[in-house]
Amino acid sequence: MKPPARRPLLGLLAAAALLSCLLLLAPPPRLFPSSSSSARAPTSPYAHRPKLLFLLAGQSNMAGRGAPTSPLPAPYLPHPRLLRLAADRRWVAASPPLHADIDTHKTCGLGPAMPFAHRLLLSSSDLLVLGLVPCAVGGTRIWMWARGQPLYEAAVARARAAVAGGGGALGAVLWFQGESDTIEVDDARAYGGKMERLVADLREDLGSPNLLVIQVSVGLASGEGNYTDIVRDAQRSINLPNVILVDAMGLPLSDDQLHLSTEAQLRLGEMLAQAYLEFESSRDPKAI
Ligand SMILES: *[C@@H]1O[C@H](CO)[C@@H](O)[C@H](O)[C@H]1NC(C)=O
Repeated sequence: MKPPARRPLLGLLAAAALLSCLLLLAPPPRLFPSSSSSARAPTSPYAHRPKLLFLLAGQSNMAGRGAPTSPLPAPYLPHPRLLRLAADRRWVAASPPLHADIDTHKTCGLGPAMPFAHRLLLSSSDLLVLGLVPCAVGGTRIWMWARGQPLYEAAVARARAAVAGGGGALGAVLWFQGESDTIEVDDARAYGGKMERLVADLREDLGSPNLLVIQVSVGLASGEGNYTDIVRDAQRSINLPNVILVDAMGLPLSDDQLHLSTEAQLRLGEMLAQAYLEFESSRDPKAI
């Protein structure tokens, strides 16, 4: 795999990290905890380093429902420079399930963000620190993510806390939502307008007018509603700059025919990383 050209943003963050911080020795890798103890994880020694931040938003397939395997695939293992903003807004080492203290009404499993992040770490400098900001909640419709709604306000507050806690820059919003909007035709038809509004509001409220949004287009074989095609068309038709699409259609589903399997989430993480890296290497540095 050829490493892509160094992105200006990553270079900037790396330089800032080098200048502003003592170089910490990487702690030795820890064994994956057998219990779901991420909420109690100690604050990461990298908590105060500038980070490249990713907001994880949407519904269950972003929160992650892939069944954990033993041993976990390597892209789900903790890495010293891969952090997660816990529900209590501390930076802790990221380890699955990333949404265990966010999407609390369901049993969370493996999602796309760990493999996404590992792929970015592989193709960037040794100084890059990644900060994942989980905000996804299963079963949510897009109207619940409108400005003023609790989910939207919580995501904005968490993103602001992430930027404030150690500093850094927003790399992208990873958005995987829309399955629940395929059930009612009115929801499906309103999807495009609501999504465009959401992107515009997020950019405004986060003071980041060029913020990249990577949408995963819904691609369920069955299980949710009859209006998947309307939602997919809406996702393809979003008419805003710096909104790109990764297609989940065809990725293998779990036995419930609704959620992506672990294998699918591994592939989706890789696809999201490729989309991000390609976008960043083509983006005009002046636009960042
Ligand atoms: C989809 O359409 C079929 C046939 O009209 C109907 O039986 C089914 O209940 C619909 N599914 C949903 C989730 O509305």
